[in-house]
Amino acid sequence: MSRPVRVAPPRAGLSGGLDLPGDKSIAHRALLLGALAEGTTVVRGVPGGADVQATRAAVQRLGAHVREEEGTLHIEGQGAGLGVADRVAIDCANSGTTMRLGAGLVAGGPGTVVLDGDASLRRRPMERVAEPLRAMHAVVETTAGRAPVTVRGGSLLGVDWRSPVASAQVKSAILFAGLRARGTTTVREPLPSRDHTERLLAYLGARIECRPGMVTVAGGQRLRAAAIPLPGDVSSAAFLVVAGLLVPGSTLRLRDVGLNPTRTGFLAILRRMGASVDVIDPHDAAGEPRGELHVRAATLHGTTITPEEVPAAIDELPILAVAAALAEGETVLRGASELRVKESDRIAALEQLRPLGVTLQTTPDGFVIRGTGGRRLRGGRIDAGGDHRVAMAFAVAGLVADGGVEIRDPECVDVSFPGFFTRLVELGAEVTPR
Ligand code: S3P
Repeated sequence: MSRPVRVAPPRAGLSGGLDLPGDKSIAHRALLLGALAEGTTVVRGVPGGADVQATRAAVQRLGAHVREEEGTLHIEGQGAGLGVADRVAIDCANSGTTMRLGAGLVAGGPGTVVLDGDASLRRRPMERVAEPLRAMHAVVETTAGRAPVTVRGGSLLGVDWRSPVASAQVKSAILFAGLRARGTTTVREPLPSRDHTERLLAYLGARIECRPGMVTVAGGQRLRAAAIPLPGDVSSAAFLVVAGLLVPGSTLRLRDVGLNPTRTGFLAILRRMGASVDVIDPHDAAGEPRGELHVRAATLHGTTITPEEVPAAIDELPILAVAAALAEGETVLRGASELRVKESDRIAALEQLRPLGVTLQTTPDGFVIRGTGGRRLRGGRIDAGGDHRVAMAFAVAGLVADGGVEIRDPECVDVSFPGFFTRLVELGAEVTPR
């Protein structure tokens, strides 16, 4: 356990330019699909966070050889035969993506794979992937609906699955299994979730058909290894974007950020709240849009975040709550009950805004926040409950709280953004160990 840190308002606006860790979502997929491809996949800009390390270890357990050279991973794909005939245990640590996508990947391979994780991951729902995989004739056992999850590999049949939740992890698990199944596999979802799997499959040469609300892939396809340069993680950028908006006098440049429209919902919401964020040099590489973000401090006002907007902003809702806490007027979020089954119950975690002087009401699927209209919050102490995004959201709140905010368990940010506190200091923030 590292010592708590206090994040306090800087003397002047935050300023500077920086690169972010590579996109975590795409990195997981690049490792898993690279292992299933034929040839050597080269992934540049791989983030050092614990979640992606868990996926790297997982593909190595499944027999793929992974070599690292200066932040670039070389994955020697095993093709359709990926996996080992024995019983293999995979530790997914805190990473839901490793567990859910991993379950889909191994369902059509050889051997038996037991996927487990830390206490947080053991609390999260796994039947949402087990059920569709069973419909494809996979043998999957959960532990009362949660991890450990045991998958006995075997021959699979394609499925047409209507997922009740808009979840890219569920969609991707089914598509991964579909690649190794007989026949075609279709996934339908109530609202579009992030589409990195679809884009990467196409980039690796798979035939995949995407229509609004559904995606279809044919089984038995071979993937062709490729070079995958990862963009900076837009979900990590979101914390700095809001920091730059809230700290008066700030100007920030965030270079080479992934700008996939299924991930940038928070930017649209912030702009509606009055934010000033410009995109410079937008372009595509390896099938993913990216660009540089320029952020200037702004006065924000409240808004309503609708259920339709939730999937494209799902990981940014905690930091949007902090933006709402400083905005003028009321911000309402609805349709986000998924936040209750993330690395922690993120709606409950946000209640810790109240002692900081924020008027907030939580609901089963969201919140109502009355912002301070730019007035600083009260200082205080919070427990992130081991959740990286909660820790980073409250750290940003500390930048605009008199006396700052103390984060009791700051090391949890390493899951997605190692070096987060150092970056804040580089931009001018005051971060002190307690
Ligand atoms: C992810 C999908 C989302 C997101 C998570 C990463 C992914 O989860 O919250 O951080 O990489 O597919 P759900 O699919 O459960 O919504």
